[in-house]
Amino acid sequence: MGRFTKTFREIRKDMFQICGGKASHLGELTSIGLSVPYGFCIIRDAFFHHLKENGLERDVFGIARTIDYEDIADLDKKTENIRSLIENAPMPKEIEEEITDGYNSLGKDDPFVAVRSSVAIRDSEISSFPGLMDTYHYLKGADRVIDYVKKCWASVFTSRATAARYRKGIDHERAIIAPIVQRMVNAKCAGVMFTLNPVNGDLSKIVIEGAWGIGEGVVSGNVTPDRFVVDKVILEVNEKQVSCKNLKYVYDPNEKKAVYKEVPEEDQRKCCLEEKEIMELVRLAKLIEDHYKIPMDIEWAIDIDFEFPNNVFILQARAESVWSKKKAEPVVGKKSSYELLMERAMKTIKLNQ
Ligand SMILES: Nc1ncnc2c1ncn2[C@@H]1O[C@H](COP(=O)(O)OP(=O)(O)OP(=O)(O)O)[C@@H](O)[C@H]1O
Ligand SMILES: [Mg+2]
Repeated sequence: MGRFTKTFREIRKDMFQICGGKASHLGELTSIGLSVPYGFCIIRDAFFHHLKENGLERDVFGIARTIDYEDIADLDKKTENIRSLIENAPMPKEIEEEITDGYNSLGKDDPFVAVRSSVAIRDSEISSFPGLMDTYHYLKGADRVIDYVKKCWASVFTSRATAARYRKGIDHERAIIAPIVQRMVNAKCAGVMFTLNPVNGDLSKIVIEGAWGIGEGVVSGNVTPDRFVVDKVILEVNEKQVSCKNLKYVYDPNEKKAVYKEVPEEDQRKCCLEEKEIMELVRLAKLIEDHYKIPMDIEWAIDIDFEFPNNVFILQARAESVWSKKKAEPVVGKKSSYELLMERAMKTIKLNQ
């Protein structure tokens, strides 16, 4: 696209040192033909260009070096100071132009977009800090997007993110942030899915969790989601738990932003996914796992405004992090995973007969 931006079509998974983990996976998923909402990424160099053009490099990293991590008030005060330096400095013209062009290419009449963090650490395999950075939903207009790109850059220096790098012994200069601008999915419901059972590491299952509205409610833990356990091999729903989902995170036209709203009582105990939508999610989860060849952690959303199956979108994929780190223990003798999968599948068939 340009010196400071790349569209998802130009990005592949090995580009995480330039585009951060989230954008590099969204580029990879786009390249294999999956339904990812259009978007682009403001690459690593743009943040450093912003600091340089505004003469902020010395101040930002200088202040960060003096933080006393034993003193919460000092951490809060200094990180707030750094964030306001980043947010209040004007966006360099050449980056502003590229973001405006990129935004206009995402749709006519100022489409709603999300600005999402995409991060990495220079010279490291780390390509995500789950839940540590900020995401902004339902933004409209290039000027607003530009302001929120600066907020997203600044979120590298929230107290939580700054302290997390310190605890891991990572220099702040090595933090890479490459914000994503992506069309919003106007989500009827959304959530996460795993290509194994996160409760026990069972590789023969896909577990889907979802609730009404955009996925924030599920990833933040504010809503107890519906939960489906599906057998990967025989494609059967083994478990279905429908919860009472009293809140949904949706756009409020009066407040011009996403807010938590009460779900009408008659919908609270309704299942948020139709059977065909569950099966489409399972199909996509299997495609993603087959492509990456490792268990994956995936975010999805279903758009109110499109017909099935064009309403099913993938919003993120990354390596599953809990069970993948555990050493694989032989369960029964030396059987291959495929044999184990088949054995489990046959058991389920028997149970269901
Ligand atoms: N384009 C989009 N349309 C609709 N919902 C979105 C969009 N982008 C993100 N979301 C939702 O917003 C929530 C937060 O998004 P995001 O993945 O950027 O951050 P996170 O999950 O909080 O943290 P992490 O950086 O670890 O992924 C997710 O539930 C996701 O489903
Ligand atoms: Mg996420």
